[in-house]
Amino acid sequence: METLKSARKDNSGEAGSDLSDQIKAATKENHVRAENTQLMLSYQKGQITLQQYKVLLFSLYEIYKALEEELDRNSSHPAVAPIYFPQELARLESLESDLEYFFGQDWEKRVIVPAATQRYKQRLRTIGQENPELLVAHAYTRYLGDLSGGQVLGKITQKSLGLSSKEGLSFFSFPGVSSPNRFKQLYRSRMNSVELTEEEKAAVLEEAVDAFELNIQVFDDLQKMLSVATETDQSRSGAGAARFAASP
Ligand code: HEM
Repeated sequence: METLKSARKDNSGEAGSDLSDQIKAATKENHVRAENTQLMLSYQKGQITLQQYKVLLFSLYEIYKALEEELDRNSSHPAVAPIYFPQELARLESLESDLEYFFGQDWEKRVIVPAATQRYKQRLRTIGQENPELLVAHAYTRYLGDLSGGQVLGKITQKSLGLSSKEGLSFFSFPGVSSPNRFKQLYRSRMNSVELTEEEKAAVLEEAVDAFELNIQVFDDLQKMLSVATETDQSRSGAGAARFAASP
């Protein structure tokens, strides 16, 4: 195994040929673009509104539902098993409890997501069925993001929404991860232990770029959806916005 790894190192002109280094380098520009979407900029300025956060939760729910169901179904696939950490990482139940907090028990009937979220979901279902080795790209993009910038975003959300407790914010909390940095190191080493052909590795890197793009499209679509709601709100005294902003 060491020999294989060293052989791959020799073949690469990059600073490092570990998957974790390559995936970070391959998605660097996309990360900058994701950070600079209007939604993420509002976030960083502490200007996220309850309405924005609530619609974002619906999309995250749909995305994690597809991601985690596909990871579960493929948990013994050799390219999934090393990076399968449901105890530490799974977000679906946290999202369900946050949605219940904000929308009440019948939240499921209220789920509304834009077209980009549907496309993201569909992509996850397709690769789960046809190319499970690409799931690592999606798991990396979401979970390592949640354990990085996501931790700061959690604090900002609490402050911006004026929430006094952690209620409604379980998405950001990882009780099974005591040190996000150490866990990220472990995750990277597990990613690097996945045996992939050069062709598969290239496909994973491409998929990670696409995963970032899908996230960017979701943020942009949500932003548009909310602008429409706000415009309708202004011209029709709130009738349109009520669809997205129903209170608990
Ligand atoms: C890593 C910030 C949005 C995915 C990071 C890191 C920071 C950060 C500070 C740590 C960098 C390092 O350790 O070198 C932010 C901020 C965001 C944001 C402020 C928006 C306001 C996103 C989004 C995604 C994402 C939308 C993807 C959906 C990632 C990933 C990593 C990461 C995968 C791990 C990189 C690696 O170590 O390989 N982010 N991020 N981030 N972020 Fe973000």
